[in-house]
Amino acid sequence: MVKVPDIKVTPPGPKAREIVERDRAFVATTTKSAPIVIRRASGSVVEDVDGNLLIDFSSGISVLNIGHAHPKVVDAISKQAAEFTHFAGTDFYYDIQARLAERLGKITPGKHRKKVFFGNSGAEANEAAIKVAKSHKKRHIFLAFLGAFHGRTQGTLALTASKAKQRAGFFPMMPGTVHVPYAYCYRCPYKLTYPSCDLYCANIIEDAYLKTVAPPEDVAGIFVEPVQGEGGYIVPPPGWLDRIAKIAKDHDFLLIDDEVQAGLGRTGKMWGIEHSKATPDILTTAKSIASGIPMGATIYPAEMDFPESGKHSNTFGGNPVACAASLATLDVIEDEGLVHRSAQIGGYMAKRLDEMKDRFEFIGDRRGLGLMQATEFVTDRTSKKADSKIRDAIEKDAYEHGLILLPCGESSLRYIPALNIPKDVLDAGLDVLEQTFRRAGK
Ligand SMILES: Cc1ncc(COP(=O)(O)O)c(C=O)c1O
Repeated sequence: MVKVPDIKVTPPGPKAREIVERDRAFVATTTKSAPIVIRRASGSVVEDVDGNLLIDFSSGISVLNIGHAHPKVVDAISKQAAEFTHFAGTDFYYDIQARLAERLGKITPGKHRKKVFFGNSGAEANEAAIKVAKSHKKRHIFLAFLGAFHGRTQGTLALTASKAKQRAGFFPMMPGTVHVPYAYCYRCPYKLTYPSCDLYCANIIEDAYLKTVAPPEDVAGIFVEPVQGEGGYIVPPPGWLDRIAKIAKDHDFLLIDDEVQAGLGRTGKMWGIEHSKATPDILTTAKSIASGIPMGATIYPAEMDFPESGKHSNTFGGNPVACAASLATLDVIEDEGLVHRSAQIGGYMAKRLDEMKDRFEFIGDRRGLGLMQATEFVTDRTSKKADSKIRDAIEKDAYEHGLILLPCGESSLRYIPALNIPKDVLDAGLDVLEQTFRRAGK
């Protein structure tokens, strides 16, 4: 048995520091949050370049739902790479792309025949959703939520609203997006309490926005994350998604369900929206869909397809290696019962996090579904003032002791291990977290 975590030299060690320096000199500035330099990884354990073994509670930003280097995915990728790595699936044909599209149509909500546009990222999946909706509805207003994250390309950035700095300097945005507050019960924008609020934050879309700034006859669709991801792992209360779906249906615009982060078993259901009864018109997915080989997919009813060739396309979409990785990933999720496991072991993780919340005053909230969990840090529970300083210190202390975490929202940390993380590894990670909290509390 390999002992994990195993820290031989506090990260970043000498080899890691060298690579970080080169990266900083030559790689574009993005969103890097910790100087962890991977050498290789397997399952839920990452070995860094200095020989440390770290437990991964970040899953490459929710991309490795079945863990690092799953043998079935590695095998599928190698076999496909030996056959052909590219043939422009937008312009020619191959079986594996059609098979994956058919399968995605079957495993997403709704029994109708669907079509799939393949891209290479979550942003590209949402870009395609914008175009499918505009093309089908012949309208151009989109509703989206404050706190939302749908991508950083210039089109999806107009929908993204989780941090002002993501948008600063990049105006003007795509015209016609209207943002409304999300169902963030811990910090209700209307200072109401569920359930006595009767979902005021959803009703107000109909009672105010559609009557004033967003005339429904011009609205193409509403983008929604079933659990807000980058915005802070915010779980809407029961009934909220159904209410949003009803408003979209009653006013004849599309419900566009962004499952890029919450999909593929992460929340304990195959799709986050399955925590409601709503059936989305368009569903977008990416991240875990191909276990790290870039892929995005936009899935919509066949009758919404582009009316003629040339309206939308790309070069790499439906790449055969990505398709092979995706089919193998879906097999693993099904064969290993990982959706059920996410719900079950996610419940266990939530319980341990709740125990920690009881003990540490700086944890204002614990929330999540399945293995999509987070804690929000505050200066004190009365003022609920967001404390990003303690969050950042905890993240750093955790990786120095062998646990890889990622932040989200203003002052939250997310806990998103692989859905097949062994229980003893999960416990070892949670033990590191608890010790980290204890040190932070001193
Ligand atoms: C819900 C959601 N949508 C879209 C995206 C964008 O995906 P990508 O970074 O692959 O473009 C993300 C990325 O974090 C996301 O969480």
